[in-house]
Amino acid sequence: MRKKIVAGNWKMNKTLQEGVELAKELNAALAGKTINCDVVVGVPATHIASVVASVDSVVGVAAQNCADKASGAYTGEISAAMVASTGAKYVILGHSERRAYYGETSEILKEKTLLALANGLTPIFCIGEVLEEREAGKQNEVVKAQIEESLFNLSAEDFGKIVLAYEPVWAIGTGKTATAEQAQEIHAYIRSVVAAKYGAEVADNTTILYGGSCNASNAKELFANPDVDGGLIGGASLAVANFLPIIEAWN
Ligand code: PGA
Repeated sequence: MRKKIVAGNWKMNKTLQEGVELAKELNAALAGKTINCDVVVGVPATHIASVVASVDSVVGVAAQNCADKASGAYTGEISAAMVASTGAKYVILGHSERRAYYGETSEILKEKTLLALANGLTPIFCIGEVLEEREAGKQNEVVKAQIEESLFNLSAEDFGKIVLAYEPVWAIGTGKTATAEQAQEIHAYIRSVVAAKYGAEVADNTTILYGGSCNASNAKELFANPDVDGGLIGGASLAVANFLPIIEAWN
């Protein structure tokens, strides 16, 4: 059975103190509860070690990025080994904001993925089309190319360590969610692309998250789809009152 995951993506929000407070509050809210999915928080790099120290094993911690180089003279960059050394278990890679604002290409993301895996991190690898591509009916070819170009160099064993996150760019932070039907349709397609390359077993075991204006009111309907294995949550992960009901949508 593939993993169900609800992962928060705090993006560039919260000071260190606010972030630790939020993580502690989430941790306390989950204590003693039956949770039917893995819970992850994707926090700013400055916060990772402190957040790791503030939560129990029930909350996994993710970096939001890592470098495409192993180490050396790359001022300002944070390597996958550094991320792993904080106790983080995941790294979000290829978020559309990284692709759009920081020029992250498929080739760069291929390197980042290899380094993340080499350092024992689970990549939460984001794919998704922009509005014009959706309107032109090109969403399937866009996500297929994103997966092929950055991930299909991996062995089946390594691909099995990847979590995919389908995030239509037109739905991120816009309040405009993909319908449950749209999400199911493309998630099933993504799984078929994985199956064609790595076989049915690997595809069946691949966790595919939905992201883009996922919140307490639509999570249950989205997660009810057979190929939607959880969510990558931006805005609604910034307060426990909004994030917890999304986790509980699996109950
Ligand atoms: P959103 O962001 O939930 O605020 O739309 C999702 C994401 O970008 O991961």
